[in-house]
Amino acid sequence: MMRWEEVVLARTLKSEGAIGLKAFTTTVSCLLRALITYALTCMGIICFGLVETTFGKDEGVTNIFGPLSQPAQEIKETSFLVLAVCAVIFIVVAGLLVYALVRFRHRAGDEATEPPQIYGSNQIELAWTVMPILIVFVLILVTSRTIADIQNRKPPPGAVQATVVGHQWWWEIRYPELGIVTANELHVPASTGDRRQPAFLKLQSADVAHSFWVPQLAGKTDLIPNKENRMWIEPTKPGTYLGNCAEYCGTQHARMLIRVVVQAPDEFDRWVRDQQQATSVTTNAAEGRKAFFANSCVNCHTIRGTSAQGKFGPDLTHLMSREMLAAGVVPNTPDNLHLWVRDPQRIKLGCLMPNMQMTDTEVDQIVAYLQTLK
Ligand code: CUA
Repeated sequence: MMRWEEVVLARTLKSEGAIGLKAFTTTVSCLLRALITYALTCMGIICFGLVETTFGKDEGVTNIFGPLSQPAQEIKETSFLVLAVCAVIFIVVAGLLVYALVRFRHRAGDEATEPPQIYGSNQIELAWTVMPILIVFVLILVTSRTIADIQNRKPPPGAVQATVVGHQWWWEIRYPELGIVTANELHVPASTGDRRQPAFLKLQSADVAHSFWVPQLAGKTDLIPNKENRMWIEPTKPGTYLGNCAEYCGTQHARMLIRVVVQAPDEFDRWVRDQQQATSVTTNAAEGRKAFFANSCVNCHTIRGTSAQGKFGPDLTHLMSREMLAAGVVPNTPDNLHLWVRDPQRIKLGCLMPNMQMTDTEVDQIVAYLQTLK
């Protein structure tokens, strides 16, 4: 004698022998468990983000709930609306489910027969069709308005224009109007009340798809080969904002970090003037300079004001002005620079720069020369 739930399940499956009932219920309960784990993980991440925003310090944290720039602020407001609507739906649905489970649970003395089956109720079916449509419609309107607001923003006079090119696995950063080329650290001025200076970015890729994401400043935008995307940021608070490539782009995707250095306007102007200088030719580290130009470093790297005009690797003209090496992997210290020049593959396996098999003396000399690139 089958229990009534089994009768219903078997009917749903059309033929009683199609799948073992046990296998079916096990699959359903596994799926349910996975779904609950997923929902709890999502809620955990959201709660952690909210707690972090409320109690944590706001610098150096890549938290979408702690925006410090437009358009991240606008995106947060929209996402809070979506989260709130979803939370209400979740509470109502989960509440009704729990109520039904408790109120109509199997009790001793219940008859083991099928309860009355109700097929079709126009009111109920209309309600659960129309309500979701209305909710989705409101969400579509709000989201489209936010997207349009962000995408239609035109650069005001004085806006900083930069081009960011994604490479496996580093970021090339150009300021065509300012004549600056650098890597991995995007400098922009902070917008102040009387001097609005958003930065407008053109995003390109030299190889595969990457994605530019600095959570506290803006949403993600992909860098696609043979296509130019655009985005803008308008941070108001000086500081260093961390980001990451957000599109899997190969083995070292996780080590393709980006830093956005937001500076007070006069500090930014000073940085621009420094970067515009070609490298000063020093008599220091003459052997290192010779070794650098004798090896194939020049095929890949540019040092403005010298014959090194390679394009495959980062511009090294002002290497020492950067905080980090290898796209944010290690701090730019003499020791790390030494390790990097000795064998880049030990720090970033698979990167395009090979171990040049140089002698210890050559490595020391080249590092000494690189340290003059201020
Ligand atoms: Cu570039 Cu992931």
